[in-house]
Amino acid sequence: MFRNITIILAFLVTNALCSSASEHTEKLPPPCDNDIYCYGPLLHAVQMASLFPDSKTFVDMKLKHTPDTTWRMFNELMNQTENRPSRSELEQFVNETFDEAGSEFEDWSPSDWVESPRFLSKIKDKNFQEWASQLNALWKFLGRKMKDDVRLHQDQYSIIYVPHPVIVPGGRFREFYYWDSYWIIRGLILSEMFHTVKGMLGNFLSIVEEYGFIPNGGRVYYAMRSQPPLLIPMVKSYIDATNDLQFLNESIDTLEKEFLFWMNNRTTKVEKDGQFYNLCQFKEFSSGPRPESYREDVTSAQIFRSEVEKEAHYSELKSAAESGWDFSSRWFVLNGTNKGNLTNLKARSIVPVDLNAIIYWNADLLSQFYNTLGQGNKSLHYSNVAKEWLEAVTKVLWHDEVGVWLDYDISNEIKRDYFYPSNLSPLWTGCYNQSDTEHYISKVMKYLEKTQIMVNLGGIPTTLEHSGEQWDYPNAWPPLQYIMIMGLHSTNDKWAQDLAYEMTERWVRANFKAFNETHAMYEKYDATVPGGHGGGGEYEIQLGFGWTNGVIMELLDKFSDRLSLEDKFVDLPAPQCCYLQEKASSLRLGSKAAMSQIMQWLHGT
Ligand SMILES: *[C@@H]1O[C@H](CO)[C@@H](O)[C@H](O)[C@H]1NC(C)=O
Ligand SMILES: *[C@@H]1O[C@H](CO)[C@@H](O)[C@H](O)[C@H]1NC(C)=O
Ligand SMILES: *[C@@H]1O[C@H](CO)[C@@H](O)[C@H](O)[C@H]1NC(C)=O
Ligand SMILES: *[C@@H]1O[C@H](CO)[C@@H](O)[C@H](O)[C@H]1NC(C)=O
Ligand SMILES: *[C@@H]1O[C@H](CO)[C@@H](O)[C@H](O)[C@H]1NC(C)=O
Ligand SMILES: *[C@@H]1O[C@H](CO)[C@@H](O)[C@H](O)[C@H]1NC(C)=O
Ligand SMILES: *[C@@H]1O[C@H](CO)[C@@H](O)[C@H](O)[C@H]1NC(C)=O
Ligand SMILES: *[C@@H]1O[C@H](CO)[C@@H](O)[C@H](O)[C@H]1NC(C)=O
Ligand SMILES: *[C@@H]1O[C@H](CO)[C@@H](O)[C@H](O)[C@H]1NC(C)=O
Repeated sequence: MFRNITIILAFLVTNALCSSASEHTEKLPPPCDNDIYCYGPLLHAVQMASLFPDSKTFVDMKLKHTPDTTWRMFNELMNQTENRPSRSELEQFVNETFDEAGSEFEDWSPSDWVESPRFLSKIKDKNFQEWASQLNALWKFLGRKMKDDVRLHQDQYSIIYVPHPVIVPGGRFREFYYWDSYWIIRGLILSEMFHTVKGMLGNFLSIVEEYGFIPNGGRVYYAMRSQPPLLIPMVKSYIDATNDLQFLNESIDTLEKEFLFWMNNRTTKVEKDGQFYNLCQFKEFSSGPRPESYREDVTSAQIFRSEVEKEAHYSELKSAAESGWDFSSRWFVLNGTNKGNLTNLKARSIVPVDLNAIIYWNADLLSQFYNTLGQGNKSLHYSNVAKEWLEAVTKVLWHDEVGVWLDYDISNEIKRDYFYPSNLSPLWTGCYNQSDTEHYISKVMKYLEKTQIMVNLGGIPTTLEHSGEQWDYPNAWPPLQYIMIMGLHSTNDKWAQDLAYEMTERWVRANFKAFNETHAMYEKYDATVPGGHGGGGEYEIQLGFGWTNGVIMELLDKFSDRLSLEDKFVDLPAPQCCYLQEKASSLRLGSKAAMSQIMQWLHGT
């Protein structure tokens, strides 16, 4: 408690010092300047009445009338009910003034969709080949085109108008999401849908021009927070596939602009051994609850008494959401540990490994892009930024004695020694001294062995904490499998590559099992049960699913000659005992429990 007070005071003092010459501490702006979708009495009244099981439904609805008319009708309602409308009066008001969520879209079937993209024929296993073909077909169901009315009457929609059609994640996620799009775009590239990809990239560029950065997703209520910055890597994927240098030339200024947002608005200085290092954090600067989870946020803030504490809590919720991991014990800080619950969110005091590994990657790619475009000075500049980030990540986040990179807790000045797949993200983005790969990878492999994460037969869990949050144990998320697999594989170390393959095999088989049983691709899965899908968190299970499909397609492509649905020799009765023992030891599992889990799994129970 004492420490909390100190932090809040420090926060206020910092704010006061920063806020120009004005006497009073400036109130932060709302999540967006729209008084229906982002803040104000109408939003408050409707969201607190719990009209819909999912709070996001209301803020995705379209206004039937102009904002002025809507306000007039709302004020009349408030007047007639002496400011205490009943739930059903509010429901009637919403019926009369809003259209159903999702009415901004029209059906759109991508014109560049092809039935048999080349990668399909590479896939040896026939079940997997058929599956990949079905995933290829799924793009047609996840394609959305905005009605022209959105452009003409932007003030009646929460969706951010973009000129080109998009592929959305699916389910409640009826708009583009920032980091999801990286895996969606890589899947689309395998599906040879380059025109769709170029359109999606064009949308992002137009949004950077308008907002100065890319919001979490394509709704105005996300306008003050971003997500892990993967636009530059998306462009890299597209350029590698198409060599469209004209597009690169036209986009480079906007890509730099987005990068500068992270440099100017999301950096902090961390002292280590008397040196200061620049590093990035997820943190946002707006007031009030998340409009799309309004009631949930007001409820979890009830434990705080003062407005200042409540606002700090809202900011923590929104900053954690910026990480893409909403929510997770990864952002809990309680007495220097990862214990607690949502009220202990302290994302703003954590320096995350993945974000900084990605920032390094962005700088390195910008340097490459400028080099390609013949702008040597800029190329040199960004090569230096990349070097600076690599050094900071190594000095502050790498721990030789632990054998991995770890998030750093600024408020307690300690490393956060907990397992997360993101601990390995520098391997994925190349953010380590690659003349010394052997050193890093041998440490990392020992670290992974110690964590025993391979006992989880359905995939790599997000954390080892059972918090009930969706980015915690036992949920396993596609992008995190991808980061670990690609990171380990990219080292060219035999041992690491074997492990990457083992992870791939389990993940692909588990996703297949769920698909075969339920005909669905999920947002997340259960690490403990192959084919089980994940739960927990704030909303229902979501189907679709953009990044899941993209990750599977890329893994099926990358390991097309080796992956198979079943281990052929498992059927042979005699060597089974020995094969399993070998398997267990190759997984470095000693325990009987692990062995029996493997038996159950192989026998499909
Ligand atoms: C409702 O409107 C009337 C007339 O404008 C006004 O006199 C009255 O005070 C209002 N009532 C409430 C509860 O706002
Ligand atoms: C509002 O609309 C929903 C769905 O159309 C309907 O089920 C409900 O009865 C309506 N409520 C009111 C109060 O009109
Ligand atoms: C970044 O910070 C600057 C000044 O600190 C501010 O003016 C600008 O609006 C911020 N940009 C975004 C996109 O939040
Ligand atoms: C915080 O941790 C320290 C050291 O582990 C311990 O002595 C102290 O009792 C803890 N305080 C609380 C409030 O848990
Ligand atoms: C969260 O933890 C606090 C104590 O730190 C406790 O008072 C509160 O009840 C907890 N909230 C939930 C929802 O468990
Ligand atoms: C990039 O575009 C500019 C004009 O905007 C042109 O002068 C330049 O040659 C182009 N560079 C490349 C590499 O295409
Ligand atoms: C490149 O940098 C050098 C030295 O900083 C400067 O003299 C030169 O004008 C720059 N060239 C361009 C094209 O900006
Ligand atoms: C990278 O590793 C090599 C080999 O150990 C070493 O010689 C070099 O100094 C390292 N580079 C940096 C920047 O630390
Ligand atoms: C798919 O599931 C069905 C039962 O639901 C099973 O009979 C079939 O063997 C499975 N197919 C594959 C290829 O695993």
